[in-house]
Amino acid sequence: MLEKIRSKEAKIAIIGLGYVGLPLAVEAAKAGFNVLGIDIDEKKIEMIRNAQSYVQDVSDEELSACVLNNRLHATVDYSCVRDVDIIDIAVPTPLSKSKTPDISFILKAMESIKKYLEPGKLIILESTTYPGTTRELIVNELELIGCRLDIDFYAAFSPERVDPGNPIYKTRNTPKVIGGASEKSTELAEAFYSLIVDQTVVVNSCEEAEMCKLLENSFRAVNIAFVNEMAMMCDKMGINVWNVINAAKTKPFGFMPFYPGPGIGGHCIPLDPVYLSWKAKHFGFYNRSIELASDINENMVDFTVEKLFRILNKQKKALNGSNVLMLGIAYKKDVNDVRESPALMLYEKLKKYGSNINYYDPLVPVFTDQNGSEVRSIEVLNKSILNASDVVLMVTPHSGFDYNFIFQNSNIIFDTRNAFEQFRSERVEVL
Ligand SMILES: NC(=O)c1ccc[n+]([C@@H]2O[C@H](COP(=O)([O-])OP(=O)(O)OC[C@H]3O[C@@H](n4cnc5c(N)ncnc54)[C@H](O)[C@@H]3O)[C@@H](O)[C@H]2O)c1
Repeated sequence: MLEKIRSKEAKIAIIGLGYVGLPLAVEAAKAGFNVLGIDIDEKKIEMIRNAQSYVQDVSDEELSACVLNNRLHATVDYSCVRDVDIIDIAVPTPLSKSKTPDISFILKAMESIKKYLEPGKLIILESTTYPGTTRELIVNELELIGCRLDIDFYAAFSPERVDPGNPIYKTRNTPKVIGGASEKSTELAEAFYSLIVDQTVVVNSCEEAEMCKLLENSFRAVNIAFVNEMAMMCDKMGINVWNVINAAKTKPFGFMPFYPGPGIGGHCIPLDPVYLSWKAKHFGFYNRSIELASDINENMVDFTVEKLFRILNKQKKALNGSNVLMLGIAYKKDVNDVRESPALMLYEKLKKYGSNINYYDPLVPVFTDQNGSEVRSIEVLNKSILNASDVVLMVTPHSGFDYNFIFQNSNIIFDTRNAFEQFRSERVEVL
């Protein structure tokens, strides 16, 4: 197996071709491996076959090069797993309605893999999940059907750390943490990743690798919550929190800036810490900082609505009947992903209070509201739309917005991201 990996003769299957799986499949194909992408979504498979990328971080040209030189094949057919050497799982790990880990996607993927599993394969889990998952859902499950670790199969965890939309750090140049369920598993997984990414970081076990990912994302969630709380406190005290952060970050050591906002979104930061605190409870440990951070971050939508109410009130207007133009609906700058986006929650709350809402997001032309209806972005941000809005609510500060034009033509701007920093005026209120 080691020889096969080093000579790039090893065949790779990537299970789940989303924001994580597709860039990984392309990177492995670019490195010279034969890659088989498996997804249950036939539309995605069709698009890959036509070399049309649906993930911003993968260009059509890159994808087309991999497809045309036969390095990347996409299919819905799990039986192809028989012919591969390495199986890399990158399926979703959401939360259930009651906010507990929903590992059903990993379970389903494993059920399908098991049907075609033959001896000698390395299975790597990339989906973010609680410490212990690789051993519980891969090693133990395979041992139950008579497969032996290091004899019949190998297993490892390697968290995906990709930051969608980041122009500098992509799959290739983001160091890859790797932890195996056994020494041999770690060695094989490291041999594989070292050929497709610039730097690998080996830890002692799959549990350490799983925990590493949750430490990173809990660190972000907790620090964002802290700065969100500072923002609410500064609001009470009449102090501009953005100026305070800008001053604090001039300290060359011991401070790292985090910024407040109307809430956290995406498939990672709001969810991953909950996976950790859920698992910690099985060990009788209640992780107070994570629970508190989740509470604070979730409540930022309410704080934003309450501040919007105060801003309109100053104009002798009410939320009910006011024209609100939301700028940006994606969960963060320069991405087209709306999963867990605080903008969606803001939209629903403001609608409930009777506001007339328009939104503009060139990256998200349409989204589905909680009643299942399609809501469309206005097509062009012109003077009359801006003028007709009682308040322009900046939610997601995409780089493509014309900030000067928006500032010149708006009545009042409620800027939850400090995107209008250079246009300080009485017409711009910050979070
Ligand atoms: N998106 C990110 O920024 C990011 C970053 C780091 C880690 N992660 C983690 O990576 C994992 C995947 O996230 P994502 O953003 O790529 O999700 P995604 O929804 O974009 O992609 C997941 C893909 O898996 C497919 N799928 C679901 N069940 C399947 C099955 N049984 N067999 C085959 N395919 C199946 C879906 O159709 C989808 O295409 C999650 O655990 C997430 O937490 C995501």
